Amino acid sequence: MRVKIAENYGFCFGVKRAIKLAEENPNSTTLGPLIHNAKEINRLKEKFNVSVTEDIESIDKKQNVIIRTHGVPKNDMQSLQDSGINVTDATCPFVIKPQEICAQMDKEGYDVVIFGDINHPEIKGIMSYVREPIVVLNCSDLLKYNIKEKVAIVAQTTKRKDEYLKVVNKLIVEHREVRVFNTICNATFDNQDAALNLSKEVDIMLIIGGKNSSNTTQLYNICEINCSNSYLIEDVNDIEDIWFKNLNLCGITAGASTPDWIVQEVINRVQKI
Ligand code: F3S
Repeated sequence: MRVKIAENYGFCFGVKRAIKLAEENPNSTTLGPLIHNAKEINRLKEKFNVSVTEDIESIDKKQNVIIRTHGVPKNDMQSLQDSGINVTDATCPFVIKPQEICAQMDKEGYDVVIFGDINHPEIKGIMSYVREPIVVLNCSDLLKYNIKEKVAIVAQTTKRKDEYLKVVNKLIVEHREVRVFNTICNATFDNQDAALNLSKEVDIMLIIGGKNSSNTTQLYNICEINCSNSYLIEDVNDIEDIWFKNLNLCGITAGASTPDWIVQEVINRVQKI
């Protein structure tokens, strides 16, 4: 099988930075998984004894705590600092930005709309910077709220720009003052554009990433539009030879939390089919 790799794929700046911080701070605990990739979390555990906890109360005060790329709610950060625990903040700077914008807009009296998934840790963190956050996933969600004339909007860093624009446009035509902040991360754009282009020219697309990673799922959705033979896989073990029958060219991309060693294993395997 011939293989073509997307021009941009895999680890983004924020994830590389978080992993480096974890490697530099062995024997630490991360509050929630550092990134959305179980294999990489295991590697950090095995090689650097970096463990994961979901519960602040269970953290030993002598242990160093690493904050994940998605960030944590303001109160969680406060309780960690109040209890004297040493904190290494690996929150991606592109996630800190919408947190700061939301706090400022709230302070200036704007209603704050957050375009994103209310169950995503990044959004839970951003919401904590606003007194009454309005979290929406689409235009119809806006109808559930009585939004003021002065409104500000930010987006989850991994959201699709076309979906964001729909919500922004609706606010613009219906409100007197709308402050729009482009908080979508370029790494996501670049990986998405490259996946879109590649999916147009191949017979089959493999999208590698954690099944609970929102940006990997979005890459899959984008590829599927052009290439119905698109498969979301976590690693080489998910590949089934039958998918490739009578096909010639396989495109490969990977989500922002997928390490290169996993991508390389998939490439090697597909080339042998
Ligand atoms: Fe940060 Fe963008 Fe990655 S927000 S964690 S650099 S996808």
